[in-house]
Amino acid sequence: MDNRPIGIFDSGIGGLTSIPYLLRQLPNERIIFFGDTARTPYGSKSVDTIRQFTLQIGDFLVKNNVKMMLVACNTISATSLDLLKETYPDIPIIGTISPTSRVIANKCNGMDRIGIMATTATVNSGVYIDKIKEKNYQLKNIFAIACPALVPLIEEGIIDNEIMDLTIKYYLDDFIKEKEIDTLVLACTHYPLIKRNLQRLYPDVSIISSSKEVAIAAKMELEDRDMFAEKPVGENYFYASDLSDNFVRMIELILGKDKKELNIDFQNLDI
Ligand code: DGL
Repeated sequence: MDNRPIGIFDSGIGGLTSIPYLLRQLPNERIIFFGDTARTPYGSKSVDTIRQFTLQIGDFLVKNNVKMMLVACNTISATSLDLLKETYPDIPIIGTISPTSRVIANKCNGMDRIGIMATTATVNSGVYIDKIKEKNYQLKNIFAIACPALVPLIEEGIIDNEIMDLTIKYYLDDFIKEKEIDTLVLACTHYPLIKRNLQRLYPDVSIISSSKEVAIAAKMELEDRDMFAEKPVGENYFYASDLSDNFVRMIELILGKDKKELNIDFQNLDI
């Protein structure tokens, strides 16, 4: 048993999409969330910069005495998971890519045509395709596409409108048609926020979400290590490097509460 909080983080608001799954899986656990909203998006930055930012977040979470780190960000998972594990060897650290690849490897067969949509850094790392093939060698038709303009639009809250639909179509129309994609992987935790747009635009394509899989993996890890919290202790905290309206609105929406009832605070890491 371990009553310390779980640290969960992302470059921005994307990681918040894992929280409903996490709270459903683990109702007794307490969460400390950090979103680097001042410096998002990470996906178009260099690997060195992403790794430097990641360690700043890691240090912040360690100072807050977390028992586990949940990297609710594919870009950080693709570029910095090794660094995090080396730097904090005593803390279990779960990234998005292994759990999501496991689900793809189990669900899909050699006939499926899998499209990984992600940030530029995640696509450039090649990690998704390697991991999926490692887990199921029969899966040969795996294609990745970088969609760099989606995260900034989502961070701005531009979702239910034509600009978002046109941007999605700009990236995916030809990709889905030419590669005959039947399974789309949301390999960025921001993308569940546009899942409805994707389902409406491509109703025949099935969708797998990394936000859900990382939360399920967290539960399995805590179970294996006998680290569940005994009972709900304390409150959840949500920190951001810039308290944007959209960050606050997303938390209110996800938890169904007003910001006055929630612990939402600014935290500057760039010092
Ligand atoms: N939510 C992130 C991911 O899963 C990162 C988006 C970004 O900062 O570019 O990749």
